[in-house]
Formats: sequence, C-alpha cells, structure tokens
Amino acid sequence: MRHLLSAADLDRDAAVHVLDVAEEMAATQRREIKKLPTLRGRTVVNLFFEDSTRTRTSFEAAAKRLSADVINFSAKGSSVSKGESLKDTALTLEAMGADAVVVRHGSSGAPHRLAHAGWTRGAVVNAGDGTHEHPTQALLDAYTMRRHLRGGTGDLAGAKVVVVGDVLHSRVARSNVLLLHTLGAHVTLVAPPTLLPVGVEAWPCETSHDLDATLLRGEPDAVMMLRVQAERMDASKGSFFPSAREYSRRYGLGRERLGMLPDDTIVLHPGPMNRGLEISAEAADSARSTIVEQVGNGVAVRMAVLYLLLAGEIPGGDA
Ligand code: CP
Repeated sequence: MRHLLSAADLDRDAAVHVLDVAEEMAATQRREIKKLPTLRGRTVVNLFFEDSTRTRTSFEAAAKRLSADVINFSAKGSSVSKGESLKDTALTLEAMGADAVVVRHGSSGAPHRLAHAGWTRGAVVNAGDGTHEHPTQALLDAYTMRRHLRGGTGDLAGAKVVVVGDVLHSRVARSNVLLLHTLGAHVTLVAPPTLLPVGVEAWPCETSHDLDATLLRGEPDAVMMLRVQAERMDASKGSFFPSAREYSRRYGLGRERLGMLPDDTIVLHPGPMNRGLEISAEAADSARSTIVEQVGNGVAVRMAVLYLLLAGEIPGGDA
C-alpha cells in the first residue's frame, strides 16, 4: 500500500498490523525510548489547509520520533491566501523533496487527487478531508478501544460501539464505521434525522434517533461523542436541530446518561469538544473518559502509519 486515504484501504490483517506496530511505537510515548532512527534522511510534509491541533502536532511528533525531517505547512499565512492552488502548493513542496505528505483539506477527495494526479512522489496520508474521512483518527480510536475493552486483549470482534451526534459533517464517524466493521465490531450511529447523511443505510452499521433507548438496550462497550460542527452547517439550509439546549437534552452525554452505562463502558471524543453541548464537563473529565489518552495514542498510531507506508509494509489497499 502506497497511500492511506480511507479506512477502507485497510483489510483486517493490515489494520491489525498497523495497530500492533503502534503498540511497539508506544514505547516512545512512554519515554522508554526517546527516538527511533527509522526514518532518518526522509522528509515528511504536513500540508494543512484546515485548522488542527491534535492531528498536525501528533503527526509532527510522530515524524520527529522516527528521526524524519519535518516541513510544516499551514494554508493560513501562505500563498494560498493569494490564490495559489492545491496543485501548485503541492508541486512547490514536492520540489523540496517529500517522502510523505500528510494532508488535511476542506474538500472531500483532495488527498485522493494529490495521490493520483502525479503532484507528489511521496506517500499521501489523509489527515481529514471535508466531511469524508479521517482514517488515522479511526485507527487511534480503535487502538484506544483495544487497550480498554475485553481486558485489553486487543480483539474488537463483537464489541458494541455507539457513535453519537453530528454524523452528517463527521469524517471521523465514516472512518470509524468502516474500520470498526473491518475489525468485527458492531456500530450504532445515533443522531437526529437532520444530522444523518443521505445514503447512511448503505454503511455497515445500525442507525437510531433515540440515544436513551440505544444505551439502555445495547449495553455498549464504548460510546463515542461527536463534535457538533457548527462551522460546516449551512444556515441557508435551515436549522439542523431545534436549539443547543434541546440537542444537549436528547443527544448530549451528561450525568444521567453516564449513569445508564455499564461500569466498564469507555467514553471517547475525537476533539475538539463543545463542552456543555454534546458532552458535559462531568462526562469529559470522568474516569471513563479516554479523550486525553486518545491524543497520546495518536502519536504512536501515526508513527506506525508513517513507518509502515515508507517501508512499504502495509499490504494491499490503495496502490
Ligand atoms: N480529532 C482531530 O482531528 O482534531 P484536530 O482537528 O485538532 O486535529
């Protein structure tokens, strides 16, 4: 596999291989090993056309812990503001020599274009494209679940995962559904009808509009709360939910719903969070919450992805 563009690029063996290698990379996260020499002399370009805190910094940390040289590019403050295109930006950075390009872009499909248009010879990693996919987020979420569920045995087959909230605008939800299905988990998406995408019936998961019924009936192993992405909501299309208070009442994770969960159910959120909207401070900061741990796990997972792509060691997928 040359690029990681979609969670669907990974079959079960490839996904498990990435997660197993991430376990080994986590030694740097625990600071048992400071740095690995694996990517010495290689260059990783972080090409970010949209804002990011976790993904950009964790890819930077991952590349540096593998001894790669890192070029960080943010569209803000660059010649993109003068109208320079993705193609010309990519060609400019390619001229500086990129072995891997980690790209986040507001347009769904931009990483596919970059990978297949010949604008870079490097491996392309999708770090989030529009409302489409965020495969490394799904990998770090699966990695986090593997560490907690089933006594940390690493097997997610049969695990019950409930994903709640703004699925319509969420690249995290789509990538998680695809990857968790590949790993044998059972996913239920819970959202108001206005925040489920057209065609969701074809996704390999169940859907519901009733969070309380889903939590009570399902006894989930993991509950993943999604950010309400106000910046992607088109005001001209009307309101996506009656009010913040009503959304929170029907779909937010607060004290009452925390109390409905089995004792060992974990709570995930990809961040950034709208505290008080989709998740209360009590839930976000509770002992069940893996939200801060997810960020740290992201470094190990991204180390594994960069290492395996540049070593050509992930079989199959997007060649
Ligand atoms: N989860 C995630 O993609 O966060 P950032 O937008 O901060 O990278």
